Order: sequence, then C-alpha cells, then structure tokens
Amino acid sequence: NTFYYIKNLSDLEIKLKDKLNLRRVLVVAGDTENDIYAFYDLGKKAAEIMLNFIKNDTVLGITGGTTMACTVNHMKSKKGLKNLLVLPARGGLSEELEIQANTIAANLAEKLDARYKLLHIPDNLDKEGLNVLKNNKLINEVLEDIKKINLLVFGLGNAKKMAARRKSDKEVLRKIESENLIAETFGYFFDQDGNVKIETNSVGITLDNFKTIKNAIGVAAGSSKAEAIYAFSKFNNNFILVTDEAAAIRILEL
Ligand code: BG6
Repeated sequence: NTFYYIKNLSDLEIKLKDKLNLRRVLVVAGDTENDIYAFYDLGKKAAEIMLNFIKNDTVLGITGGTTMACTVNHMKSKKGLKNLLVLPARGGLSEELEIQANTIAANLAEKLDARYKLLHIPDNLDKEGLNVLKNNKLINEVLEDIKKINLLVFGLGNAKKMAARRKSDKEVLRKIESENLIAETFGYFFDQDGNVKIETNSVGITLDNFKTIKNAIGVAAGSSKAEAIYAFSKFNNNFILVTDEAAAIRILEL
C-alpha cells in the first residue's frame, strides 16, 4: 500500500471530475475497503451532501447496499421540513434485511421526520408474478411516486461482486463473464462502455426515470469499484459522485 500519503484531495476531485465529466466529485481520504473509519467518513460526507439537497417537498429515493446503510447511519437528523417523502428506489434485489432499500428508506425517513412508503415485493419473482404485483393498487401507487423522485441517492457496485452477493442465477453470472460486465446499479448491469446489458427482475426506478432526476448523488468507493464508476459514468454523467482516494487514484489510471 504505497499510495496513501494523501496528496491534495481537491486536486484529485478536479482531475476525476474532468475525466468522468461529472457534475461534481467529492473524494474522502484513504481506502474505504480496507479502513472502516475511511468508510464512515465516506458515509458522513455523502450524508452531508444529501442533507444540503433536502428541501420542503423533496421526494427522496434511496437504494440499498452497505454504502447507503452507512450513509444513513451517519446522517444527522434534520427535522422541521415540510412534505418530505422517502422511497426505496427499487424493491426486492435479494439483499440482506439490513441493507435492503426498504430498511434504509425507513431509517432515513425517521431522521427527517418524513413520510415514507415501502415496496413490499418478494425476491425472485418471474415476469408474470411481477406484472400481477405492479397492478396491485398499493404497489402501483408507490411506483407512481417513484417516478416523482427529485433527489436520488444511490449505490453503485462491481458487477461480479454484486451478482455473487445476491446469489444471481447461473445465466446472469455467465453473461457477466462472457460480456465482461463491469458495473451494477439498482438491478441493472453495464458493460465497460456504459451499455445496459442485464435488467434484474424487479420493480422501481427505471433507467429512463433515473436520467430525468434533477439531483442524483452516487456514492461508491474502494478500488474494486473503480472500473464500475468509470463505466457507469459513460452511461450517464448527470450526477454527483462521492468516492474515496483509492477509487479516485485507480480511475485516473484507467
Ligand atoms: C445495492 C444497490 O443494494 O447496493 C446497488 O441497489 C448498488 O445500486 C449496491 O450497486 C452497492 O452495494 P454496496 O454494499 O457496495 O454499497
């Protein structure tokens, strides 16, 4: 580990913003994959940025994952805002309870004194089953609200790691391997040029929705996510990235 004699972080932020062509980039010191305190710092930084964007009437969407869980855990409470709604961005992605979008959305809503709605969708439904659920009145209502998200905070993962963590079926694993898929976010898998190659059976935010969201904050760090961040930024660059030094340095080498 030779690289952590912290250079100028703001210099890294500028270089990364230019390379990825993003709205804004924030880099925390260190390597969040190997240092739990650096990971907490990432969460704190992401929470701070998120709080800056939360205003009256915000419809706030959040994904699952350990990074989002850490972000919400480190967020300060902010009460007194009016008409806030918190929603999970997507339901049923075969994650453990603690890091499911539903759980995280409920925790987030509590810190904001906000209303929240959850997506109660069992995992691994087939297309037909999903369609039935989509037409359910309550679920449909949440899906309509999801289209109104105006602030999204999302995690981004390494395709292989995410498929393994979610115990995806063989077909998905094979495709990730054979087509060299790199990035994953809310159930979609991307190749290195940012093309969408797999869509997990799930409901919630779609990539078309995503593109229209005014404020999106992606939080992803650690060198194993470097390529994923790079690939996803080619799909869409209208978001703010919060990352760490390890990922930033690696991305600049790509
Ligand atoms: C998932 C999100 O739950 O977490 C994905 O839906 C994201 O968008 C993933 O890729 C990242 O997980 P982690 O644990 O690396 O933050």
